[in-house]
Amino acid sequence: MNIAIIGTGYVGLPTGIGFASLGHNVTCIDKDELKINQLKNKKVTLYEDGLEDLFNRVDIEFTTSIPIGVKNADLIIIAVGTPQDENTGKANLTYIYNVAKELSECKFDKYTVIATKSTVPVGTGDKIEEIINNKNCDIISLPEFLREGKALYDFFNPDRIICGSSSEMAKGLIADLYPTFDVLFTDRRSAELIKYASNAFLATKIHYINEMANLCEAVGANINMVAKGMGLDKRIGDKFLKAGIGYGGSCFPKDTLAITHLAKDYNIDLTIIQATILGNLYRKVDIAKKIMKYITPVSKVAILGLAFKNDTDDCRQSPAIDITKILVNEGYNIHVFDYKALKNAEKILGKSVTYHDNIKSITKDADICIILTEWEQFKFLDWKTIKEDMKNPLLLDYRNLLSKEYMESLGFIYKGVGI
Ligand code: UGA
Repeated sequence: MNIAIIGTGYVGLPTGIGFASLGHNVTCIDKDELKINQLKNKKVTLYEDGLEDLFNRVDIEFTTSIPIGVKNADLIIIAVGTPQDENTGKANLTYIYNVAKELSECKFDKYTVIATKSTVPVGTGDKIEEIINNKNCDIISLPEFLREGKALYDFFNPDRIICGSSSEMAKGLIADLYPTFDVLFTDRRSAELIKYASNAFLATKIHYINEMANLCEAVGANINMVAKGMGLDKRIGDKFLKAGIGYGGSCFPKDTLAITHLAKDYNIDLTIIQATILGNLYRKVDIAKKIMKYITPVSKVAILGLAFKNDTDDCRQSPAIDITKILVNEGYNIHVFDYKALKNAEKILGKSVTYHDNIKSITKDADICIILTEWEQFKFLDWKTIKEDMKNPLLLDYRNLLSKEYMESLGFIYKGVGI
């Protein structure tokens, strides 16, 4: 199949490379000339597990031009950003509509399916259809469920493929694209809502477990045990029950806000999601306040992890960054480390913190060590030596990665969340 993908971000690029590896003819399109030039030179422009390796084994065309890129396409996938509008909190659809306008000016000599993968409010497909207004095209919703850091894994092992369309021809094309998969076909509006409803539900699950962690601390229970016990019930499930510092990233914060705004447009209050949004904001302030109880202006504060989660270099709406910013604003001496996100973090934190690219230098003479991102690697550090190197063996593991008993046996004063 000839596939054109518009947008080469965390969704578009792994999707393009994934489809190319399955033998499809893929063209990736992006307005960013610098990015396209890098990609043409086989340089990956973002960190994703296994992406560079697979990229080196596939052939993909790259262009900055939509008309050139979509020529001969059977399927066009729109994967541009729908960032949060700073003023309204709604999803900003400028990039989507600009793409739709450019597509409306393209000539399609054959039947083409245009699929929106970007997360868009319900009804956006209708507007794209109005703008493109071409009898040779069907506009469908093909929401994306890839997780950053696990994008390729999720691409090859999807839990679900949802396709929103009423066109039999479009449905046939998507069935051909996923020959071994039982695609769930819905109407377009339902497909658009499935994406928001899923992300908001997962965000709520995280907020719920974080509140339970607070309760555990108050009543002397252990959130790890509580989550494990809850998760054994298949109706609840054991996923997304890890207590921490609040959810972040480019999806949950934006999508929870966008769905509440969407509902408001129809005079519906999504009270649970509103509580989640507010609770998640407080979570970061609460965690910063907890940290401040343990430090003084002369403490060397070592923060391990800045990315919004593990296995990514992405710092967008990272709770780790938000907490760091609060501490910086209070004038503390903050040192930071991350496996992949230092470059992106520096764009936000500038010169307000000291950056370390290794564990040895950040933990040397530190008064406190705080884990803010759930990098698995932290589990395997030489904590015995770290303890000897630190000035004061205080460890705040706010992702509950390590064993309290083991860390205490090494001589650490250990605090997690909800334990
Ligand atoms: C999320 C969804 O999981 C994907 O299915 C979806 O495709 C994507 O948004 C999107 O809309 O594009 P992602 O933002 O990459 O994926 O990250 P998640 O793995 O969902 O984690 C989100 C945040 O929740 C992170 O800050 C993470 O640390 C936090 N989290 C996650 C917890 O605090 N506890 C958990 O148990 C799970």
